[in-house]
Amino acid sequence: MSLNAFEQEARQLDAADPLAHFREAFLIPPHGNGPMHYFVGNSLGLMPRATRGVLDEVMRDWAQHAVEGHFAADHPWMHYHGLVREPLAELVGAKPVEVVAMNTLTVNLHLMMVSFYRPQPGRSAILIEAGAFPSDRHAVESQIRFHGLDPARELIEVEPDEGERISDAAFERAFAEHGSRIALALLPGVQYRTGQLLDIAALTALARRHGCAVGWDLAHAVGNVPLALHEAGPDFAVWCHYKYCNSGPGAIAGCFVHERHAVASLPRFAGWWGHDPETRFLMRPEFQPARGADGWQLSNPPVLSLAPLRASLDLFHQAGMAALRAKSLHLTGFLERGIDALLADTLEILTPREPARRGCQLSLRVRAGREAGRALFGFLKSRGVLGDWREPDVIRIAPVPLYNRFTDVAAFLREALAWRERRA
Ligand SMILES: Cc1ncc(COP(=O)(O)O)c(C=O)c1O
Repeated sequence: MSLNAFEQEARQLDAADPLAHFREAFLIPPHGNGPMHYFVGNSLGLMPRATRGVLDEVMRDWAQHAVEGHFAADHPWMHYHGLVREPLAELVGAKPVEVVAMNTLTVNLHLMMVSFYRPQPGRSAILIEAGAFPSDRHAVESQIRFHGLDPARELIEVEPDEGERISDAAFERAFAEHGSRIALALLPGVQYRTGQLLDIAALTALARRHGCAVGWDLAHAVGNVPLALHEAGPDFAVWCHYKYCNSGPGAIAGCFVHERHAVASLPRFAGWWGHDPETRFLMRPEFQPARGADGWQLSNPPVLSLAPLRASLDLFHQAGMAALRAKSLHLTGFLERGIDALLADTLEILTPREPARRGCQLSLRVRAGREAGRALFGFLKSRGVLGDWREPDVIRIAPVPLYNRFTDVAAFLREALAWRERRA
């Protein structure tokens, strides 16, 4: 198939796309006289048009009501974090009591490990994937040290065994070998570098069969793939909202604590907003945790940070995760097909080929080596096709179904081909 044929198919697919109108809900950065072809929703999602309005509302209420805004605002600040509870639960397949928006991802990961990494003699290790996101690794190592233990002994890393990817069998082997000494398994929903989607339900069940606590870093999974956290049954999950959830740089993060821990008085680092709201303002010294994930909150909620999340979750609710996933499979499949047909001699796809084992992102390596990869990445950027670069040699391209078009994918193919022709 030629580039022309792909471009024509892309125009037809855009015209027939039932979700195409959602693109209008976003501000697309310009490039030259047109819009950028933005493939970096896995890093920072685009700004929804509605975001300015919800922020303006908070600013107006602050100007008009000052402290009384906690009760007199259009959406009273006292209960503002509650506004995102239902849509967030819907997005991650959880019960409302299991989710809370608070802090940022790494902070939440630490808070969760305080409760769920409870090393005992003989069961004190943490299992993660090799090549985990550095912040997770730092957090895990520092928790191990915090307990007076040695990461060289207590950190178990599962190595990729299928090229860049980790097979289910590799996890099974790791649990068979080390299961009895693993206190916590911390796994990535979608691995940030390779784009591999892990089987959250199966690996959670595997870890629990071995008596381990299990938590997930869903930074690259939330808003990207459908999730069913309650049913899958991990102890906790953490994620951010600035990627696929389009809630702005450094946005407030999300946290899931399974319902089975909703009333148990697990050890935790406490703050007043985690106190039972019925008695919080009696200002008593003893801590009575709120039911569910709310009981891990520390501070009063940052309303200015929650407002963009409200606007964003509204779009997910309207579009529906099932419809978004259907388009996503099609869009990423189109990108894969184009690379295979036109650029197979130039680009290697590191992400699993099975659609069920990936989200929207394809991780690409330029066969000619790192320098050529940097050159292609720079060329694409100069042509308004923005992906991102992950050391040492990976270009990540994430077509996001809420705002990317099939013609964006065709533009990627066109510009990558132009680069190859220039080099020849
Ligand atoms: C997989 C993963 N985990 C953790 C983080 C760290 O997130 P934060 O800076 O919000 O704590 C990121 C950030 O991009 C990430 O991609």
